[in-house]
Amino acid sequence: MSACRALRASKALVRYSAARLTRPVAVPLEARRRFAVSAPTMSSFYPDWEPDGPTVKTEIPGPQAKAAIVELNEVFDTRSLNMLTDYSKSTGNYIADPDGNVLLDVYAQIASIPLGYNNPVLRKAARTDAMINGLINRPALGNFPPAEWAEILRTGILKVAPSGLNQVFTAMAGSDANETAYKAAFMYRRQRDRGGPNVEFTEEEMNSAMVNQSPGASNQLSILSFKTAFHGRLFGSLSTTRSKPIHKLDIPAFDWPQATFPQLKYPLDAHAAENAEIERTALDEVERLITTYHLPPCAVVVEPIQSEGGDNHATPAFFRGLREVTRKHGVLLIVDEVQTGVGATGRFWAHEHWDLHDPPDMVTFSKKAQTAGYYFGNPELRPNKPYRQFNTWMGDPARALLFRAIIDEVERLDLVRHTARVGEYLYEKLERLADKYPGEFRNLRGKGMGTFIAFDNPRRDEFLAKAKTFGVNIGGSGQSAVRLRPMLIFEEKHADILIDVLERIVTSW
Ligand SMILES: Cc1ncc(COP(=O)(O)O)c(C=O)c1O
Repeated sequence: MSACRALRASKALVRYSAARLTRPVAVPLEARRRFAVSAPTMSSFYPDWEPDGPTVKTEIPGPQAKAAIVELNEVFDTRSLNMLTDYSKSTGNYIADPDGNVLLDVYAQIASIPLGYNNPVLRKAARTDAMINGLINRPALGNFPPAEWAEILRTGILKVAPSGLNQVFTAMAGSDANETAYKAAFMYRRQRDRGGPNVEFTEEEMNSAMVNQSPGASNQLSILSFKTAFHGRLFGSLSTTRSKPIHKLDIPAFDWPQATFPQLKYPLDAHAAENAEIERTALDEVERLITTYHLPPCAVVVEPIQSEGGDNHATPAFFRGLREVTRKHGVLLIVDEVQTGVGATGRFWAHEHWDLHDPPDMVTFSKKAQTAGYYFGNPELRPNKPYRQFNTWMGDPARALLFRAIIDEVERLDLVRHTARVGEYLYEKLERLADKYPGEFRNLRGKGMGTFIAFDNPRRDEFLAKAKTFGVNIGGSGQSAVRLRPMLIFEEKHADILIDVLERIVTSW
């Protein structure tokens, strides 16, 4: 370690130790020693960028944040506020607040930051003429795409297109990506039933569309989703979201079918036969709904790992079965990679873990991509006429440029493989914690899935609140899951800090 690095590391330790002295919770000596042993060094990816560790100076929110929240609350609903943030002071894996607290962030803006706060390479990309042009001359993409749009797509979004899918419809956010994919599925199916793209709509069809009716109830179609799924909160996507009532209350919804997502038993190795049976039953239910539901599904939408619903996993065999059953009945398979995509599972797309020979029909993306949309391969998924799938912006070239810069950096630093490796390291350490404190780290899941790891804790909300006091920002999902969603630049040394804090939380009750 250089003298300069050593000085910075020791300063960080002092800062961290001092902060701990001000904490109201008791810190076991053993844990403190372990933290000192695994004291982090600087970022391995970018020099002089990250702090060496968390700093907790005040309670969170501290006095500055509290005052700012009161002011904000006068004009903006703050009831869902997690942490008032100072983005100018947040760097790498560390999120800062106005009181000078700096936390290791393994929640990362709900899994949407790929390369760390204030990433130097992205800051450089943001200063280019191309980016400025995209930002201040925002095009109505369907009507006036920039001359270089094909090149931006080919060298960015499409460069990482899932195997078998070579086209994209760009969108604004995850819910929007799913809704436009659903629309494409409905139009595709009706076009097929009608006899192809050149068959004109009937007068009756056009008239009934204008009064929100299909000509005959038998023509109504649906999208099948799974119980505890999350696909967004806009009107259409919300009908496929089944994670929590609070998301859905009072909002008119479509009468669409839901199938049971396999509820696997952990550890997976110990329950292989039982889990295989659970998955077979779930697939049978999907097939039954496809063939008997009163509004026939034209598509099935599924997350590779149900994320907001509590990090529910299924095996590759289940997803291969889902592909088979949808193909058998001419139903499209939409894989929602909004949360799982862009590297966090140790593959660029989580569905690469399934070894499909027959790709999904559409893959939706957003979050870490910073832009959004759906990939597809079959040209018939383009509606037969222009303006059937259209909005003013239909995406955003500035965000597409940002995704291109992210992709280049992910490749340059080999971050997908890096995440797979760090995930293994982290999982192994969590397994040891789970052995030691089985009641606190229940149903550990995500083995072999990069850093996309979760466990259940009986006092989950308290657990998350306590994590902040020890210098780590963690998210929850579902009823009791603590979900880890670090960025792709999360390293072994960050894992050591995290593990240390997790142990300190459960020994501090
Ligand atoms: C799997 C999945 N799909 C869709 C969405 C909705 O994305 P957005 O909040 O960007 O609309 C989310 C958001 O958490 C998600 O996790």
